[in-house]
Amino acid sequence: MQNCVGQAVRGDNFWNRSDEIEEIWNKIDSGSHILLAAPRRVGKTSIMFYLKDKPKENYIVVYIDTESADNENEFWQKVFNALLEEEFINKLKSYSQTLWQKIKKIKIDKISTSGVEFGDGETLNYSEAFERLLKDIEKDKKIIIMLDEFAQTVENIVKYEDEISAEKFLKRHRALRQNSNLTTKVTFIYAGSIGLESVVSKLNGIKYINDLNTVKVRPLTNMDAKNFVDILAKSLKITLSEEVKDFLLEEIEWLIPFYIQLILQEIKNISRKNKNEIITNEIVKSAILNSLDYKNHFEHWRSKLKEALCVEEFKLAKEILNIISERNTIESLEILDIGTKFEIDNETTKDIVHSLEYDGYINNNDNPKIYRFNSPILKMWWYKNVAN
Ligand SMILES: Nc1ncnc2c1ncn2[C@@H]1O[C@H](COP(=O)(O)OP(=O)(O)O)[C@@H](O)[C@H]1O
Ligand SMILES: [Mg+2]
Repeated sequence: MQNCVGQAVRGDNFWNRSDEIEEIWNKIDSGSHILLAAPRRVGKTSIMFYLKDKPKENYIVVYIDTESADNENEFWQKVFNALLEEEFINKLKSYSQTLWQKIKKIKIDKISTSGVEFGDGETLNYSEAFERLLKDIEKDKKIIIMLDEFAQTVENIVKYEDEISAEKFLKRHRALRQNSNLTTKVTFIYAGSIGLESVVSKLNGIKYINDLNTVKVRPLTNMDAKNFVDILAKSLKITLSEEVKDFLLEEIEWLIPFYIQLILQEIKNISRKNKNEIITNEIVKSAILNSLDYKNHFEHWRSKLKEALCVEEFKLAKEILNIISERNTIESLEILDIGTKFEIDNETTKDIVHSLEYDGYINNNDNPKIYRFNSPILKMWWYKNVAN
């Protein structure tokens, strides 16, 4: 296993997430459609790559990143293009030339909001086109369509078209999931680093996604994180004592693979420079400070918030996070007061706090009335680069 920092991992670099993966397969087997939920960088895409690379027998797994789709047409274009690249389509080709000829002629450029135009000029709506495409995959096979950054697509539709189009889009997805001709053939897995629930609730559209079965991707447990550190340290050729390892995990606190990899990489850099064999707590501290210089690893925490919220709401969210980054915690009452200062009503303020929680900035796990950062590293970055 190599220490990869940044891109979703694949193959040998994937640290086993057996609980999540088992839960996903159980839900697929029971016929559910899934919402894979976790803040950014927790490891959703890596899990989806794993499902794609190691599918269970009789499942065809398709991965599609829809983040860059700005409207429904572009979304479906991506989906149909991805499906047409799949191997099962090639198999179709070999046993049914006529059907293949038809499918091949799907005029992707003729995808409109009403449907997909087939080569013979006939237009089918998306679910009919799906049915057509999927009808002839082998009887005992089921296809899993994983849609990454789906909530971003919904947000793009709101931004570049309007809320009504976004609502229609969600409605159509629900209809597709409930289409009885498709249920035995397809499972949808929706994922994304901005909370689908918070995006959808702004549209009053929870009813369109409440049939989804949520699988949460959690940080690693302390024991799992320790084993992960051991394997990575070995591959980086650094040695950490038990005591330093404990200190490292305490400092990282929010034990997602990403932060562990980032800090170990910095520890390696320091020890290389110092030609120092022994890693101390001081080196761990310096490594954490050094990691804050990687703007591209952190800046999205600020920029995505700015994109998702309107001006006053962004100011509110920023002030909440500024205060927590300085004082470690904030009480919910004070948050409502800040909302009032920006002329934002309590309900909206609570929604914003909820999306900060959902998107992985803060939590109130210790006390429901007190919020703190999930990650002390993000807290330090925020304090240094946004609050001051
Ligand atoms: N299972 C894993 N094994 C090893 N590294 C992982 C794993 N999951 C996540 N990572 C690390 O975290 C980073 C973010 O992972 P990614 O799958 O892109 O998260 P997400 O899709 O939730 O934003 C990756 O660059 C990788 O360094
Ligand atoms: Mg991802």
